[in-house]
Amino acid sequence: MSARPVVWVTRRLPAAVEQALHEHFEIRQREDDAPLDADALAQAFREADAVLCTVTDRISPACLTQPQRRARIVANFGVGVNHIDVASARAAGVTVTNTPDVLTDDTADLAILLMLATLRRAGEGERELRAGRWAGWRPTHLLGTRLTGKTLGIVGLGRIGMAVAQRASAGFGMRVLAWSRSAPRGPEPGVERVATLDALLAQVDVLSLHCPATPDTKHLIAAPQLALMGRHAVLVNTARGDVVDEAALVAALEAGQIAGAGLDVFEREPVVHPGLLRRDDVVLLPHLGSATRETREAMGMRALANLTAFFRGEAVRDRVVS
Ligand code: DGY
Repeated sequence: MSARPVVWVTRRLPAAVEQALHEHFEIRQREDDAPLDADALAQAFREADAVLCTVTDRISPACLTQPQRRARIVANFGVGVNHIDVASARAAGVTVTNTPDVLTDDTADLAILLMLATLRRAGEGERELRAGRWAGWRPTHLLGTRLTGKTLGIVGLGRIGMAVAQRASAGFGMRVLAWSRSAPRGPEPGVERVATLDALLAQVDVLSLHCPATPDTKHLIAAPQLALMGRHAVLVNTARGDVVDEAALVAALEAGQIAGAGLDVFEREPVVHPGLLRRDDVVLLPHLGSATRETREAMGMRALANLTAFFRGEAVRDRVVS
């Protein structure tokens, strides 16, 4: 690289990542950790050669197609790119990269955590104890449902879906069924593919979502799908909020059509549907799927590697749009 490219970094990142970015690039960044609004984002695309963004940034056509745009690459800190208008990026010749692989295990772990927390009523128990309402051990107190040996249905059998399948099958002796639009990438040990989503829904004790958010998957799980699940079944979503129709989910829970839900992602983050907040049979987490120190640092280093490769004219590993 000759003159150091300018990179706009939209959020504060782990210290080691910020330090490494400063070693390679001229960095523009806010001191505080507030997200950039639409105008500031558009300006970032005019000021910098690259924008390193996150899921909280809506990278709109206004950013990508403006005539004064300087940025030639958007390096996303995360695997999901539904917040980036990839069609506009493609049309404008802007490269988009993401950070797959490094967050697979932690996101899969969190899906299992939500399955257990929902079935074993961990949130209810913690709220009761913290509120000083715990009256001591008793044989019939807060009885939940066992995860071990149950049937798991996975929607979307990519890297994270497969990692969840392995944990469920090897760790919890679960029968694992899956429905996915994508063809197998290799062997899928311990997984039975089913032909239709409806066939999956009718058989599951736990439904876990691992598909990307696209126009095709918006509200993939809505009233008709929830009606096909058993009254004992629970829904877990660590993918994207848009995949579930939240209003329909609240209605299904209120009608006793399903037994509960464990959610890490929401349709209008950081706003959560009030109907979900009211319910005791729902476990709610603030988008923590990849939130470990190890993974967030690895995500940052992967975004950095994509940027350095791009500006050196080398092969960019994680191109979503070139
Ligand atoms: C991801 O990588 O997609 C996480 O949800 C954070 O964006």
